[in-house]
Amino acid sequence: TLPSRVTLVEVGPRDGLQNRPEQIPLAARLRLLDDLAAAGLTVIETGSFVNPQWVPQMADSEAVFRQVRRAPGVRYTALTPNLKGFERAMAVAADEIAIMTAASESFSQKNTNCSIEQSLERLAPVAAAASETGVPLRGYISCALGCPYEGEVDPHAVHALTRALFDMGCYEVSIGDTIGTGTAGSMARLLDLILSEFPAHKLAVHCHDTYGQALANILVALQRGIATVDASVAGLGGCPYAAGAAGNVATEDVVYMLHGMGIETGINLPRLVDAARHVCAALDIPCASHVANALKA
Ligand code: HMG
Ligand code: MG
Repeated sequence: TLPSRVTLVEVGPRDGLQNRPEQIPLAARLRLLDDLAAAGLTVIETGSFVNPQWVPQMADSEAVFRQVRRAPGVRYTALTPNLKGFERAMAVAADEIAIMTAASESFSQKNTNCSIEQSLERLAPVAAAASETGVPLRGYISCALGCPYEGEVDPHAVHALTRALFDMGCYEVSIGDTIGTGTAGSMARLLDLILSEFPAHKLAVHCHDTYGQALANILVALQRGIATVDASVAGLGGCPYAAGAAGNVATEDVVYMLHGMGIETGINLPRLVDAARHVCAALDIPCASHVANALKA
């Protein structure tokens, strides 16, 4: 059955901006965060604390966390791949952290410079520290529906990793279709397997829209009771370690679909479209969201 309310996890300020070729001015990152909070987003992945040699766009995430005006009721979250990242996130009082692993060995090596097994070993102390600090911990699994280097991915590997992340203490696991190759068919098969063990309210989907399948894949998740959806304003983004991967599904497009289905989000769509337009103007790029473009006239 469909959820009556869905939480959007806005990942644009992290997933969306991490892949831009240019260095994003701090003011533009702060403005985007303000606009998103004003539009009603309540969970905003604000930045990442990764090796700045690897992802220079996120190098000034400390400044972003320090200077953002924290809107009441909004969680400003951070991606932290290791203990060093965790400590940086705690130093600027991130409200929640996310850790990531991948369902494909090659992607794990390219993205985090270690095997899948080693990634779990690296994340265990982060999870322990999060638990000790009392900061909520979210988990990501990349390449859940396909890998840019290896192609097809075994759903059982994704299921096993989901279990590993819950065992580590994640309150929620986000199933990532990093390169957007999944379809309503492969998403249904994967979710049915995972949902045979874990409840829908502990899962989220994170769909990139490379093949235009994201909304269909999200619908499949909603039909299974999943009520948390990751999305990126203006469809910004892509992954630096997955050449050709498009951005996440645009938040505006997801909100339009949800409202059309009578599902509450708490988001003001016109204000969200304004946020999309502002950030695209600041970056001088065309807007990749259908809804923002449709409402242009
Ligand atoms: P490494 O190079 O193997 O780490 O990176 P290391 O421990 O050997 O350290 C090397 C150097 O980096 C050291 O500096 C560390 O101090 C420094 P040196 O001593 O040489 O001067 N360092 C750091 N500095 C600041 N903050 C840190 C940090 N860590 C190490 N946190 C590591 C390993 C995992 C850190 C690296 O591979 C990395 O940063 N990877 C992240 C790459 C990334 O951000 N990818 C994109 C995000 S994932 C994604 O987009 C997918 C997702 O959206 C879901 C989906 O779509 O599937 C989440
Ligand atoms: Mg992503």
